[in-house]
Parts: sequence; C-alpha cells; structure tokens
Amino acid sequence: MQRQLSLDILVDDEERRRSLCDDVRAGLSSPKKYIPPAWFYDEAGSRLFDEITRLPEYYPTRAERAILTRHASDIAAATRADTLVEIGSGTSDKTRLLLDAMAAAGHLERIILFDISREVLADAAEHLNLLYDVDVHAVVGDFRHHLGNVPAVGRQLWAFLGGTIGNLLPAGRRQLLECCRRQMGRDGRLLLGTDLVKDVGRLLAAYDDASGITAAFDRNVLAVINRELHASFDPELFDHRAVWDADERWIEMRLRARRPHTVVVEDLDLVVSFRAGEEILTEISAKFTPSQVAGELVGAGLAPRAVWYDDDDDFQLTLARPLPLVQGDLGPRPES
Ligand SMILES: C[S@@+](CC[C@H](N)C(=O)[O-])C[C@H]1O[C@@H](n2cnc3c(N)ncnc32)[C@H](O)[C@@H]1O
Repeated sequence: MQRQLSLDILVDDEERRRSLCDDVRAGLSSPKKYIPPAWFYDEAGSRLFDEITRLPEYYPTRAERAILTRHASDIAAATRADTLVEIGSGTSDKTRLLLDAMAAAGHLERIILFDISREVLADAAEHLNLLYDVDVHAVVGDFRHHLGNVPAVGRQLWAFLGGTIGNLLPAGRRQLLECCRRQMGRDGRLLLGTDLVKDVGRLLAAYDDASGITAAFDRNVLAVINRELHASFDPELFDHRAVWDADERWIEMRLRARRPHTVVVEDLDLVVSFRAGEEILTEISAKFTPSQVAGELVGAGLAPRAVWYDDDDDFQLTLARPLPLVQGDLGPRPES
C-alpha cells in the first residue's frame, strides 16, 4: 500500500500576495532598492535554478553532492533519525542520497519537505512518495516565519542544504537556526550546507555564468512582479551583475538599469524611477569560513558534532545537535 502524501499550505495565494506586496513596496521604495530572493522561485525560476545547478561554473551543488555521496551513511548512523525534515527543499534531488542511507539503515519512517515554491514542492513530494515506502508531508511556507509549524513527530534530522542559509543576513540566519533548534526537539539534529570563502574569480563565475542562465534567473524576478502585481518592468532594460563584497564576505546579485526609465506597479499604485546604472539588490550569498559556521551554530544554541568537506574544500556540511541553553527548555515535544 502506498504511504500517505499530504500538503499543508501555510502560505496560501492571498498570504503570498500580501507578503509580495509588502516586500516589493518596501524594497522598491528604499533608497537602496532590493527584492528579497524568496520571490525568484516561481515555476520558471525554480526550473532556471535547476539548470544553474548543472552549470560548469556552479560548483556548490556538485561539491555538496560529493560530500553526501561519501558520508550519507555516516550521517544516518550518527543521527539514527527516522524523520527527514528538509527546509528550502526545492527538487530534493541531492536529498535522495540521505534518504537512501536512512532507508538502508532501516530507520526511515517519514519525510517532511518545506519550501515556499508550491509547484516544485508538490512535484518533489510526489516523487519521493513513489520512491520510498514512507509518508511524505509537504509544507508550503516561508522559513523566515513558519518553521514553528513543522510537525513535531519522530526523531528528526533537519537538512538545510545548498548553501541557502547564505541568502540570509546574519540576524536572519541566527533567528532561523534558533528556530530549527527549538523545533527539532532534544534528539533532533541539523545538517547544514555552507559554501566556503574561496578564489573570487571562481565565486563570481558561479553567479554570472558564461551561458547567461544566472542572468535569466535574476531577471525572472521582474517577470514575477509583472505577472503578479501588474508591473511594467522590461527585464531587458536591466543587466545582471555579480559583485563580491570583501568586507561582508558575500556575493551580491544585482540588476542594473541600462538607462533612466520609470516602472509602474499598478497593484501597488507605485511609480518607481530608475537612473542609468541604478541597481536592485536581488540576492546576497554569504560565504563562510569553518570557524564562522561553528560560531554561528553555537551562537544559536547548536553544537557542531561532525564536519565534512569535498576534495577541493569548496563546501562544508556540518552536523549539529541542540545545546540545552536553559534547564528544561528542550524537554520532550508534544507529539502532533
Ligand atoms: C538555492 S535553492 C536550494 C534548493 C535545494 N535545497 C538545493 O540544495 O539544491 C533555495 C530553495 O529555497 C526555497 N526558498 C527560498 N526562500 C525561501 C523562504 N523564505 N522560505 C521557504 N523556502 C524558500 C526556494 O524555493 C528554493 O527551493
């Protein structure tokens, strides 16, 4: 008998629209214009991201896959988890290495996937439900706000892969890690993928590839705003740029206006003027040192237990467990 497949929608169409309106109004009215990266991932954006992961310049996916290929069984053995919770799960492609190892160890009982992009999430959940003989629960939510709704069942391994944590500012990273720690329970574990600081030329190439797929991904966010908020962006009036900020140690993806022009966002009654060369910040992607990863985990109440690298030391996977901060604060969770 095929196991259960369920979908929990924490961000419905109305909520999604409200949140897009808030983000676009705030971001395009700011003196330094920005659009949060969560809005890249409509169906087209998720497909483009999938193409990015296969580009020769985009090393993070290959590096993380290499670590998982080598160490997934160590992770399964170390955690003895029966429930995989993946946040920002996307296609969950690499995750199958972990799931195979958990299933081979005889522990795997359920999978919980959490992502903002409903279509990609639903496809991934259906696919995993066919592949593994376990219940799959998909949650459409924003990991900045809704992790408290992840069902507290089983012995959980939380996976946050792809270096997606680097898309958050330091305060957001801390908040998210603290929330993971609280929610995973005393026996829970976190597997965190972080991209490491490296040669700037390689970093820039990974975010501005020769075939222009990353540029198309970046400009797609303007198409999302056009479609959902009846805006008049001409994506071709913007150049994609990747810039390394050496002080912050992050890559910035920016869209730079080629010439002065005005954009109307009808649904917000908003008129936005661009000077020639004016930029919209669309993503930061922070790069880490190993000691910084450890520091941020400990700062959020998580103790690193094991760390793995790929052969080129491009990427790091860290397995962490919750530290009891205040006596009793990690008591048994109510089962839901
Ligand atoms: C860089 S992709 C990584 C996908 C996959 N984990 C991997 O390693 O290839 C980021 C994923 O996080 C999701 N995402 C981005 N912002 C999010 C948010 N605020 N809440 C939930 N999911 C989000 C996107 O939809 C996308 O699937």
